[in-house]
Amino acid sequence: MAKTAELILDGKTYKLPVVEGTENEVALDISNLLEETGAITLDFGYKNTGATKSAITFLDGDKGILRYRGYSIEDLAAHSSFLEVAYLLIFGELPTTDQLGKFSGDIKRHTMVHEDIKKILDGFPSTSHPMGVLASLFCAQTAFYPESLDPNRSAEGVYLSIVRSLAKMPTFAAWAYKNAVGHPVNYPDNSLEYCSRFLKMLYALPAEQYEVDPVVADALDKLLILHADHEQNCSTSTVRIVGSSKASIYSSISAGINALWGPLHGGANQEVILMLEAIKKDGGDTEKWINKAKDKNSGFRLMGFGHRVYKNFDPRAKIIKKAADDVLNKLGVNDPVLEIAMKLEEVALRDPYFIERKLYPNVDFYSGIIYRALGIPVDMFTVMFAMGRLPGWIAQWKELRENKEPIGRPRQIYVGQQLRDYVPINKR
Ligand code: MLT
Repeated sequence: MAKTAELILDGKTYKLPVVEGTENEVALDISNLLEETGAITLDFGYKNTGATKSAITFLDGDKGILRYRGYSIEDLAAHSSFLEVAYLLIFGELPTTDQLGKFSGDIKRHTMVHEDIKKILDGFPSTSHPMGVLASLFCAQTAFYPESLDPNRSAEGVYLSIVRSLAKMPTFAAWAYKNAVGHPVNYPDNSLEYCSRFLKMLYALPAEQYEVDPVVADALDKLLILHADHEQNCSTSTVRIVGSSKASIYSSISAGINALWGPLHGGANQEVILMLEAIKKDGGDTEKWINKAKDKNSGFRLMGFGHRVYKNFDPRAKIIKKAADDVLNKLGVNDPVLEIAMKLEEVALRDPYFIERKLYPNVDFYSGIIYRALGIPVDMFTVMFAMGRLPGWIAQWKELRENKEPIGRPRQIYVGQQLRDYVPINKR
């Protein structure tokens, strides 16, 4: 007997089907609520609303669990590679050696971008934020690959769009940075693997030999794994709702890049470092700023602490914290801003004010610290987040399309003016 819930509205009882997931999550199916009751639900920010059924990522906010296709983030961060995780998220299974070799080889064949993309890039002043450039260049692929405008074309065509997305994102990201610093762009060196190829495009300068530091490349690969997907977060929900209109993969993901840019979402890692630099500039008195954070009238908020989904700890933060310690030690980084970060972390982990409010350091707190230690410019932090989240966006867009999900069209409760007559301007 299917489980149901009862809703009583205006004295009438309605039965709502109950849906249970493979991890025993429970949802009330309200697909026919408006038709049956004349009422809708209201849930600002959709915090209590499931938009879909998905087999890609499972997270448990109370227990601090995060799994990609059933594999724990701890196992994947310890043993996998970013491209292997990308394959897992997108195609549902860990690849064999041959499958990963073909996937990596297909990606290498598409790392170059059309030379005319440079004409678009040249139109952006060096003051442009790399996220805006990235979103624009990524969407420009619709112009160079017009066949991608049909999201439901052949499986081979969708695979090609997926490979192009993963192949060109690092190139677009590195070019957005070079545009910001006024340097000539570098072309991808396909003798290198994914993260090393990106780092060389990002940092190499003309007439200089650039050697990728394996410590940096390994740390970056782990960071990208940790950011690869996070179920229905803001940017992924954006990719899904744009994709639900049958928009192309490139325009759907470009929308996701723009949603990620916001300081309440992917932009938080940039805000963390800007906050730490402000504290340093103010003299580095962490106690003073901790007290400001506790004073609700101060208007100051500690960035990089707490999470809207995880109630006790962010499992990614635990992994990144160790990676941050390793990278700082291996690179011998001695940065006063990072010392301030460690002091804030120490307080947040023992101060009852932060413990009671679950304000523990989250993934953005530590990722900002690592990116800074790796020498990544602060304006590029969210670009790194976008590079990591790309496989998740692709996987979620692909799942939505394969499941033929309907166009997203939420309702509202109208609270504006009731009917009134038009008044000519000379009578107002
Ligand atoms: C993410 O990884 O997307 C962020 O933690 C935000 C979220 O999940 O809401």
